[in-house]
Amino acid sequence: MARVKVGVLISGRGSNLQSLIDATADPGYPAEIALVVSNIPEVYGLERARAAGIETATLPHDDYPNRAAFEESVARTLVGAGCEIVCLAGFMRVLGSDFVARWPNRMLNIHPSLLPSFKGLHTQRKALEAGVTLAGCTVHIVTPDLDDGPILAQAAVPVLPSDTEDTLSARILEQEHRIYPAALAWLASGRVRIEGRRAILDNGRGEPDPVVMPPV
Ligand code: GAR
Repeated sequence: MARVKVGVLISGRGSNLQSLIDATADPGYPAEIALVVSNIPEVYGLERARAAGIETATLPHDDYPNRAAFEESVARTLVGAGCEIVCLAGFMRVLGSDFVARWPNRMLNIHPSLLPSFKGLHTQRKALEAGVTLAGCTVHIVTPDLDDGPILAQAAVPVLPSDTEDTLSARILEQEHRIYPAALAWLASGRVRIEGRRAILDNGRGEPDPVVMPPV
């Protein structure tokens, strides 16, 4: 079976990258990671990629005169590796519309909130400050608007009275590691149809896949 080639963009420790590496270790998984790109040198995520025998590239954004030049370099590197899908996994740079347009409906992001609530940074702190009782994470198609775009998968977790930003982040992260590999598998196997703002999953049963249902 030909597997879809994926490029993963990271800026840090790469725990979501690891969940994708682990999923792609199964030969039946419909995607393989062809390249990991970091905009920050020497982050732990790069080590994870190397340990899995995956090609890496470090492209520090500060080395470029402007955003367009940085993004052009990232895009060329991804295209050179044959990446058909791009996954943002803790990649902390906003990408411009020219970059996004190269992979229309073929670029995914994971965000640690139940979008459209709490876009941007410090989402877990915002959730605690807002006093919500449910928090969670979202995998969505990347569009030029920040943390926007059709939603493929979400998982919810409770917010406990004793929670700190760290404990809530850890509870959410566990769910990120479940839903990202699932969402990538759907996209890579051609089971996602985009209609307006909605991503519709065709799993042949006309119902949500159990993997995205919140834990009981
Ligand atoms: C994850 O929680 C991810 O959802 C978040 O950064 C963390 C990266 O962790 N991404 C964003 O906030 C993007 N807006 P990781 O490097 O261990 O995957």
